[in-house]
Amino acid sequence: MAVEITNFSRLLLLSFFLVLSSTSADNVTYDHRSLIIDGRRRLLISASIHYPRSVPSMWPGLVASAKEGGADVIETYVFWNGHELSPGNYSFEDRFDLVKFVNVVKDAGMYLILRIGPFVAAEWNFGGIPVWLHYIPGVVFRSNSEQFKSHMQSFMTFIVNIMKRDKLFASQGGPIILAQVENEYGDTEKVYGDGGKLYAMWAADMALSQDIGVPWIMCQQYDAPARVINTCNSFYCDQFAPNSPSKPKIWTENWPGWFQTFGTSNPHRPPEDIAFSVARFFQKGGSLQNYYMYHGGTNFGRTSGGPFITTSYDYDAPIDEYGLLRLPKWSHLKDLHKSIKLCEHALLYSEPTHLLIGPLQEASVYADSSGSCAAFLANMDDTDEKWIVFQNRSYHLPAWSVSILPDCKTIAFNTAKVRSQISMVDMMPESLVASKTIEEKGSKGLQWHIYKEKTGAVEKTDFVRHGFADHLNTTKDATDYLWYSTRLHVDEGEKFLINGTQPILMVESKGHAVHVFVNEEIIASASGNGSDITYKLETQVPLKAGKNDISLLSMTVGLQNAGPFYEWVGAGLTSVKIAGLDNGTIDLSSNTWKYKIGLEGEHLRIYSNGVDNVKWITPSLPPKNQALTWYMVVVDAPKGTVPIGLDMKYMGKGQAWLNGKAIGRYWPRKSSINDKCSSSCNYKGKFFPDKCRTGCGEPTQRWYHIPLSWFKPSGNVLVIFEEKGGDPTRITFSRRRISKICSSVSEDFPFVDLENWENAVRSNGEGRATLHLACPENSSISSIRFASYGNPSGACGSYQQGICHHPSSVLIIEKVCLNKTQCTIPFLEGDFSKDFCPGITKSLAVEAACN
Ligand SMILES: *[C@@H]1O[C@H](CO)[C@@H](O)[C@H](O)[C@H]1NC(C)=O
Ligand SMILES: *[C@@H]1O[C@H](CO)[C@@H](O)[C@H](O)[C@H]1NC(C)=O
Ligand SMILES: *[C@@H]1O[C@H](CO)[C@@H](O)[C@H](O)[C@H]1NC(C)=O
Ligand SMILES: *[C@@H]1O[C@H](CO)[C@@H](O)[C@H](O)[C@H]1NC(C)=O
Ligand SMILES: *[C@@H]1O[C@H](CO)[C@@H](O)[C@H](O)[C@H]1NC(C)=O
Ligand SMILES: *[C@@H]1O[C@H](CO)[C@@H](O)[C@H](O)[C@H]1NC(C)=O
Ligand SMILES: *[C@@H]1O[C@H](CO)[C@@H](O)[C@H](O)[C@H]1NC(C)=O
Ligand SMILES: *[C@@H]1O[C@H](CO)[C@@H](O)[C@H](O)[C@H]1NC(C)=O
Ligand SMILES: *[C@@H]1O[C@H](CO)[C@@H](O)[C@H](O)[C@H]1NC(C)=O
Repeated sequence: MAVEITNFSRLLLLSFFLVLSSTSADNVTYDHRSLIIDGRRRLLISASIHYPRSVPSMWPGLVASAKEGGADVIETYVFWNGHELSPGNYSFEDRFDLVKFVNVVKDAGMYLILRIGPFVAAEWNFGGIPVWLHYIPGVVFRSNSEQFKSHMQSFMTFIVNIMKRDKLFASQGGPIILAQVENEYGDTEKVYGDGGKLYAMWAADMALSQDIGVPWIMCQQYDAPARVINTCNSFYCDQFAPNSPSKPKIWTENWPGWFQTFGTSNPHRPPEDIAFSVARFFQKGGSLQNYYMYHGGTNFGRTSGGPFITTSYDYDAPIDEYGLLRLPKWSHLKDLHKSIKLCEHALLYSEPTHLLIGPLQEASVYADSSGSCAAFLANMDDTDEKWIVFQNRSYHLPAWSVSILPDCKTIAFNTAKVRSQISMVDMMPESLVASKTIEEKGSKGLQWHIYKEKTGAVEKTDFVRHGFADHLNTTKDATDYLWYSTRLHVDEGEKFLINGTQPILMVESKGHAVHVFVNEEIIASASGNGSDITYKLETQVPLKAGKNDISLLSMTVGLQNAGPFYEWVGAGLTSVKIAGLDNGTIDLSSNTWKYKIGLEGEHLRIYSNGVDNVKWITPSLPPKNQALTWYMVVVDAPKGTVPIGLDMKYMGKGQAWLNGKAIGRYWPRKSSINDKCSSSCNYKGKFFPDKCRTGCGEPTQRWYHIPLSWFKPSGNVLVIFEEKGGDPTRITFSRRRISKICSSVSEDFPFVDLENWENAVRSNGEGRATLHLACPENSSISSIRFASYGNPSGACGSYQQGICHHPSSVLIIEKVCLNKTQCTIPFLEGDFSKDFCPGITKSLAVEAACN
């Protein structure tokens, strides 16, 4: 009996222990070198994924891809205006389910950095602060305003408390190892006078008083107080030092790409340069580096900031907007992370020796007491490669590169040598297919239903006033749209009516965009751009004798998200004049204007499912090039599981919804053909957002991501509001798929199998060199479009044979790879032997198609 009881209590004890250990708290502290988690210094790779920029069904996959890519940590902002919809009214629905997101990270066994802000910038509407807060008397954002501080504190406390409630801080057994208060305030602080610093210090104290049991950080806060770690945000942070020798060197934002604004070309940051920046950071004592963004995602609905930030927030990030791995960026960084992790112990537990080994070459050696040694060899020369001697061995350093030697001898990785596969992505159009379930008359094919929005504020007026009301003060961002309408009487005797000329309408505005209607016809549109949000418009205006209705549909395209006092910028018309009348130029600015806030369709919530008070009409063909038109169509889901974009190239400007969910603003606005584009991108030298742009003369954003989880098999309601005119019959879904893959290997660089580092080092780095090709899941290699063993040149998509070419290259690869999802080809052995073309440095390049 006694024995049984003992066994029973052992069992109890055991299960008690299991419960404890599964939620065991992590003690997160830090010293000058790094964060210390449970007594162990940690070298951490972090990846920004913003929860509302994708959908919950995508979160586990995105987080898993980050983990597979070598990240230990997910970093996210908290988006105040997505949570506190009106004072004290909190929401955590769907994409804004923050607790669920943190738990996804926890379940993946990863850490999380919670950047509460609550100001976030982030190319997010109004920088993340609720618009209603601007209208509370006495509030000045991010200043020593008592009203602002009180709302900020309530929000921060609310967020901290729900994290505590669900035990999500590491100190409670959760994944959150760091939290951030404020955001990039250091450069702005002075503009706010003495109150700026007071506010920053108040924010830090208020954060510390939350007692979360993990450290607080403030990025770009050069005067952060002793107990808060100041961190770096930039393209490069190797030269950064925190403001105290007792704080670790943390990089909260390394930008692996850049955001886009409607009407500009598309920025790209080359993977070689990102890897260079990261390797330099760890070489120079960094201990935590975060990619902002690792998955940028989508600014659904009206969440994008700006003005003019695109609906896509792809960011040229390692995971693309649609959730597909961007290769070689993702995989090159994965190799980098693996190499850095091989150095972790030596890096964290030794004092480095940095030596100049050339005018622009630097070696750093970390040798710890356990005998492990790691070295970084950097060549900062942005043009020339260099041979150097390091510890009696000679090494080739490509220009603008860092070599990582986890044993101080063998190069595991060089930032300029991309070994991984390149994937080329296509958007394959797929026509909309009418849903038969709802469209009883299924045989009729696609049926567009339309609802014509009323022009102007004449019929339904919200208010009348002399002169111009500020657009934002009027809409308070409940909608993008504000109508301004006035009337002009034209005398029959006006000369222009007789002599056949047209007067000129001149409009000036604070932004962001406008469509001008005269007597119900659209006559012109104007908008600012990412560098100048104001605009001026001059256009001929077809006036008639008698009364003329002049209506301007003013709109915002994402509110300001950063800059001192950004909440006061405002929007809307500032001047409207007409020149060329007998009386000269007349100024309509101080006329009586009728105003209408928002669209009729918005008031009717025409985009929601199951709205029955809307009188759609169903013409046999939908009208083209017609302004102010709502279009609706009921369609089947596209087949398959490939991500979907909505092709809006042939539409004008507006917004789109599927099944009541806001896809976002669309605007296939083109960048100038003369914008700064480059056909190839030189990774060498300091990166800046204008360095490697593509798509000049093309729409900045043609496709709009629709998450697969928003579709049902059939009966999907697609609603479009077109402002100025387009051709809805040319709208298609497009499947985003990897169509081509390329891979190459070369003899001139040592190959080390990172997966198998110990063996590789034992065999002196002489690992078997191979070329690897892999199509996405459920597809296979359908053809070999190029293959050359010899000295081929060029890049993926434009490879060319050199003077040395193995004539059976294509056949050999086909034999191994055709119809396979993935394949591996030996290099410098077998068919592709070392003896071929003696004296020539050989490489193998392959381009294959997947389907
Ligand atoms: C956490 O770790 C620090 C040093 O790393 C130590 O001083 C402190 O006592 C630990 N706290 C807890 C609660 O274990
Ligand atoms: C909270 O905000 C939502 C969205 O604006 C609104 O529908 C709801 O009525 C509000 N609730 C309260 C209690 O104010
Ligand atoms: C390099 O060679 C010199 C001379 O042979 C020797 O004294 C030194 O120990 C060597 N250094 C290393 C790191 O192997
Ligand atoms: C026509 O009349 C308008 C208004 O008086 C005047 O501004 C314009 O110069 C005239 N054009 C011609 C071609 O006479
Ligand atoms: C933005 O607009 C300003 C003023 O109209 C113009 O000078 C500038 O060139 C435009 N920039 C771009 C990128 O189009
Ligand atoms: C908007 O309204 C605020 C008062 O709520 C006022 O202080 C501000 O000047 C207005 N802005 C503009 C641009 O008119
Ligand atoms: C032109 O000016 C005269 C004199 O000020 C005024 O009576 C008349 O109404 C004006 N006409 C228009 C079209 O504004
Ligand atoms: C691959 O196909 C299987 C079976 O049809 C399916 O369950 C899975 O989701 C597909 N995977 C992808 C990535 O499409
Ligand atoms: C690949 O598949 C195609 C179509 O199924 C077939 O015709 C061809 O013979 C296959 N090729 C190889 C090398 O297996």
